[in-house]
Amino acid sequence: MNLADEYGRLCRTPSDINEHLPTFVALVQRLNAKHVIELGTRSGVSTTAWLHGLSKTGGRLTSVDIDEAPDIATHDDWTFLQGDDCDPDITVQLDPADIVFIDTSHTYLQTVAELYLYRWLVKPGGLMVLHDTELAHPQDAPIRPAYPVKTAIEEFIADTGYEWTNHRNNNGLGIIEGF
Ligand SMILES: C[S@@+](CC[C@H](N)C(=O)[O-])C[C@H]1O[C@@H](n2cnc3c(N)ncnc32)[C@H](O)[C@@H]1O
Repeated sequence: MNLADEYGRLCRTPSDINEHLPTFVALVQRLNAKHVIELGTRSGVSTTAWLHGLSKTGGRLTSVDIDEAPDIATHDDWTFLQGDDCDPDITVQLDPADIVFIDTSHTYLQTVAELYLYRWLVKPGGLMVLHDTELAHPQDAPIRPAYPVKTAIEEFIADTGYEWTNHRNNNGLGIIEGF
């Protein structure tokens, strides 16, 4: 199945993220993005959407996951790095990106660390995109704070003066602008 067909199939298949896939493609096209960094791939649902969007702009995707690469077709414009996304051995390999997408453990401390580390890898005019803003208690996250991703974003916004919008559907998608 080619990339466009697989993207269409994933959009139609209910999942914890499928409703946001067209937003990923629209953001890539809006920015004419040439590089996206994706943190957290799992089986490659969001990976496929980013790749599909970037196929329209001639851009490339760099994905990071602590686990092995998702079992999807390889693409010339896709680089997969296995490791902890806050490990300097990983971050030293990353070029600045138009969009940094964060979808990893969803714990408060991890999200804070990712926001403050990866803000420096967002190009001027770029975006950070975070999934699961509307998850009150993500699996394996401490009971407090509730809504750890949203809490981390709100504190980051208060500290930096950036702006964010929140799409509440499908577990929530936060989009931070002002870089
Ligand atoms: C919710 S899943 C990602 C879902 C994926 N974006 C999708 O569309 O299907 C979270 C992923 O983050 C990865 N992960 C968790 N902590 C991580 C870390 N510190 N560094 C890199 N990846 C991490 C997990 O291995 C898992 O694959």
